[in-house]
Amino acid sequence: MNKPKDEPGLQTILSHCGRNLEASGGYVNVPPYEGSTILHDDMEDLFGRVDNHLYGDGTAQTYGTDGGPTHEAFYDAMNKLEGGAGTWAFSTGLAGCTIPMMAFLKTGDHMLVTDSVYGPTRQFCEVLLKNFGVEAEFYEPTIGAGIEKLIRPNTRLIYMESPGTHTFEMQDVPAIAAVARKYNIVTMIDNTYATPLNFQPLKHGVDVVVHSATKYICGHSDVLMSTVTCNEKNWKQVRDVCKMTGQYASAQSVYLGLRGLRTLKVRLDAVGVHTRKVVDWLLKREEVKKVIWPAYEKDPGYRIYKRDYSGPIGLFAFQFQDQYTDVQINRFMDSLKLFGLGYSWGGFESLILRSYGKRTVGDPKIMRTMIRVYIGLEDPEDMINDLDQAMTKMRDV
Ligand SMILES: Cc1ncc(COP(=O)(O)O)c(C=O)c1O
Repeated sequence: MNKPKDEPGLQTILSHCGRNLEASGGYVNVPPYEGSTILHDDMEDLFGRVDNHLYGDGTAQTYGTDGGPTHEAFYDAMNKLEGGAGTWAFSTGLAGCTIPMMAFLKTGDHMLVTDSVYGPTRQFCEVLLKNFGVEAEFYEPTIGAGIEKLIRPNTRLIYMESPGTHTFEMQDVPAIAAVARKYNIVTMIDNTYATPLNFQPLKHGVDVVVHSATKYICGHSDVLMSTVTCNEKNWKQVRDVCKMTGQYASAQSVYLGLRGLRTLKVRLDAVGVHTRKVVDWLLKREEVKKVIWPAYEKDPGYRIYKRDYSGPIGLFAFQFQDQYTDVQINRFMDSLKLFGLGYSWGGFESLILRSYGKRTVGDPKIMRTMIRVYIGLEDPEDMINDLDQAMTKMRDV
């Protein structure tokens, strides 16, 4: 369906969102305002704001940690894209995944976490939250509405990540959110893969949305940051925890976040086209047993991907046939010349990793058999040639 004529398109929104010409002095983006002290006009202004900051509605900016005009511009943009009531930025992706949980959990509570969750988030739940008397139970990622049978009287939070880290299971987010609402349970999702462009979980009943902005949003592998965007009901609680725990992303980081949003769609579109070319090539290779990419029509997650996502995912995994040994697979990895061997993804450059991590509900060994690939902006033919020559070396071992 075509959009109404008076409604701007996504590229136009991305080019103009978060613009505040008064704060920027006419520059197209609000420059990085960094600092600790904010000067006040008089005592009334100072104390009035401090009271509001600590015990009032919490909106007054009294100190650098509250964020300044650059933060406001980026938050406005994220709220617009996600359909949120409020956004906060954190200094790493992991902090955005973990800290907001503190707004909802206390000793004696139970939470449900997808078994495919990002490893360090899992560790936070298994170690730190456990020390504080919170029980994290891991559930099968594709459980959908079946999550209802895991709910206990003390379940306070359901945590999702779709598709899942390394194994890429698509979750039925609307179905899980609907069950959670029935029991008044808060839902959080790590939406990093989708970006705010391809899927907006708040519009599907989720309460809190996290992005590791380190990935696609900043997009150049040179920033660490996350965003947390909430619906109206949960925003104050999350914002208060952010303030009480001193969460802050630098003005330079949020500036780069807003700049990244301007080109996000064109980067994502290119990454999607490149990824399809590489996936199609891998699917034809006899060395390859399986490719796991939810945007591929035969992937088990495709039905949900097609239903919920409006654009591509540039990250996937594949497995070699069982006959290839560990030594051979490592030879393949070591022989790659253009793919970077390193953590993270979402930048301009292609990366590759042998997967690792823990599963307690699914097959615990699955991770070691997977190779995770991120396809960047290079010419896909060059990346295919690189994979080809590395496979030749692998076979020669
Ligand atoms: C899905 C997902 N969430 C969160 C994170 C954490 O982000 P950061 O590296 O900025 O801490 C990552 C990092 O790889 C990730 O892949």
